[in-house]
Amino acid sequence: MIKTSITGMSFHVPEHIVTNADLEEMMDTSDEWIRTRSGIQERRWVKEGEGASDLSIIASESAMANAGVKSSDIDMVIAATVSSDYYFPGVAVQLQEKMGMDTIGAFDLRVGCSAFIYGLSVADQFIKTGQCKTILLVGTDVLSTVLEKDPIGRDVGVLFGDGAGAVILQPSENDSGVLSTHMHSDGKYMKELWVELPGSKFKDRGFSNELMEQRRHRLFMNGREVFRHAVKRFPEVIQEALDVNNLTLNDIAQIIPHQANRRITEAVAKRMGVGTDLIYSNIHRYGNTTAATIPIAMCEAFEEGKFSAGDHIILAAFGSGFTWASAAIKW
Ligand code: UT7
Repeated sequence: MIKTSITGMSFHVPEHIVTNADLEEMMDTSDEWIRTRSGIQERRWVKEGEGASDLSIIASESAMANAGVKSSDIDMVIAATVSSDYYFPGVAVQLQEKMGMDTIGAFDLRVGCSAFIYGLSVADQFIKTGQCKTILLVGTDVLSTVLEKDPIGRDVGVLFGDGAGAVILQPSENDSGVLSTHMHSDGKYMKELWVELPGSKFKDRGFSNELMEQRRHRLFMNGREVFRHAVKRFPEVIQEALDVNNLTLNDIAQIIPHQANRRITEAVAKRMGVGTDLIYSNIHRYGNTTAATIPIAMCEAFEEGKFSAGDHIILAAFGSGFTWASAAIKW
């Protein structure tokens, strides 16, 4: 059976650094609250006019150079994102056009924080069946433009950053590659973490003064409920990846989770009986960049030598939907 390898990867974050001290000026918050509740020290926010496609192009070009492939080699683009520059079409077609790719299949996956692993799972099917040879998968989100940067929105406003991470996926030439992927969802919790507008249920998609004044176009999160589910689902889906591959935690060089909150990572480590050093964290630098956290973390963990050729790693995510997912990879 052909396996899917990550043959190139890179990431890009906006230049503009927003520190906790900067947020103290905008919201009724404190560096101490943000650090102790989430572990975040700073995040990057786009400047006006910069969208998810702009971040993605830079990450994608760098991942392609890393893999030694050209735009003409790419035969599918998948953008894992809820932040297209426009209501539609998505980011993937913007990449196809701006990067001068052939008229290949290009589409977005709107699965919030689990989207990168969902995208990896979809890409894996196309590589395994031989239908594609070189897929560009980008995880990108820009949520800074739907945050309420005032005291009312402080509960979520301090958590999110913008970014993009890209990987090139190709058939493996040895026994390394994606070993398994697992996707889950439970839509009854969709309102616990959502952006309601613009929505097709509403006249003019909900662009009315009344609905805007009610802040229905802003990100809402029931933080405690999300936390409660996340600390249960992460261990479950990591265990699922281990079991199906007859692996134990001792076989894993690094678990790379979606970066939502350092306290979630610590709780997952405790529940699984492992040290926090097995579970990668870079949330202090970027905050929660939604679908971009995993590829960004994977790049940095690799650069820091947390895993190398021949090692097993596990990617795991939990987020809006609720959705959760994992992937086991032999590097
Ligand atoms: O990627 C999507 C997945 N997202 C997540 O996984 C996030 C999961 N949830 C969390 O990480 C945590 O629930 C939060 C970090 C969002 C919040 O932490 P918490 O310990 O659950 O705090 P809380 O919401 O229960 O709020 C505690 C207190 C409240 O004050 P009172 O009612 O106790 O007086 C809040 O008003 O903290 C207050 N508060 C703040 N204070 C200063 C809420 N936000 C802030 C803030 N600065 N930014």
